Amino acid sequence: MAMKKVPGRWRQIPSGSTATSEKGGDMAKLCVVGAGVVGQATGKGFLKLGHDVTFVDVNADTVEQIRSNGFSAIFPEEIILRDVEAVFISVPTPTAEDGVNLSSLDQACHDIDSALAVFQSRPVIVFRSTILPGTTRKHLVPLLEKAAGDSRVGEHVCYNPEYLRERHAQRDFDCPRIITIGQSVRSEDAAHRLAELYHPFDAKVYRCGYEEAEFQKYVNNLFNAAKISFFNEMREMAKGLGIDPTLAFQLTVRSAQGMWDPLYGIHDKGVYGGACLPKDTNAWIEYMEESGFNPIFMQAVREINRSIGGA
Ligand SMILES: NC(=O)c1ccc[n+]([C@@H]2O[C@H](COP(=O)([O-])OP(=O)(O)OC[C@H]3O[C@@H](n4cnc5c(N)ncnc54)[C@H](O)[C@@H]3O)[C@@H](O)[C@H]2O)c1
Repeated sequence: MAMKKVPGRWRQIPSGSTATSEKGGDMAKLCVVGAGVVGQATGKGFLKLGHDVTFVDVNADTVEQIRSNGFSAIFPEEIILRDVEAVFISVPTPTAEDGVNLSSLDQACHDIDSALAVFQSRPVIVFRSTILPGTTRKHLVPLLEKAAGDSRVGEHVCYNPEYLRERHAQRDFDCPRIITIGQSVRSEDAAHRLAELYHPFDAKVYRCGYEEAEFQKYVNNLFNAAKISFFNEMREMAKGLGIDPTLAFQLTVRSAQGMWDPLYGIHDKGVYGGACLPKDTNAWIEYMEESGFNPIFMQAVREINRSIGGA
């Protein structure tokens, strides 16, 4: 199947494409910058597939701990990118007052540029950290290209979000549900090389634009946060009414279309309407407010519906 050169559309990589890195197949040299939860799961996962992985971290204790477990670990100033197929960057992106603190990513870009300058090697540069939409295209690629003095570095840049759960990090990396690769028109070849590295994994690989991939990672996390908050609010309301919500929640898993139909609500069909949803939302909010509760999640749900013309 030919792959269209149009990033911005979700595309599944055909499963029959050639793999360069299956266990027992070709081995690739990989570098993982930022050897924390995501970095170690990534590196150890690729090691299991037979690749040659070097971890890079600024933290001496982390480097020491990785070495003591028999893995290869170095500091950023020691990075050598000769013959390296891909550099995975999984440094922290903590929240700052004005958005996301990108200082660790900036430093990692600087270190990679220094290493790139030494050899004419061109590894795929894979950002794995969670970053807001636009960060790769508007910030990271220009930064890499400016520092390297080479306007073609962006041809090698991909964004590849990680969905692992912290407590099951290795298992989740080894058994991903999907693999998402964000790319630009310029980095088509790099995205293909990255998809090849993921070929042995039993998961579909989806390729799209940088911004869609960055956005999707937030949709992923924010949906989980919203779902937990919805049930926390309902639990509080139930307790206030003297009701044990446990069975009601378990039954809802089976009764509500939003639970048993994973595609429910994701289509662009505007407001929620019909005979029940607006009526029951309003009744619930008013009943709770009159009873002395503050159902802020459901108030926000109604506000959103009204703001786009619903009841
Ligand atoms: N923890 C999770 O469950 C999870 C899941 C998915 C995505 N993420 C995202 O992945 C990114 C990394 O998260 P994490 O939980 O692995 O962080 P972490 O704090 O566990 O690890 C980050 C590592 O990067 C190192 N580091 C910092 N700056 C560096 C630099 N300039 N060069 C080299 N190493 C550097 C730190 O010393 C640390 O060992 C974040 O953007 C996070 O939001 C985290």
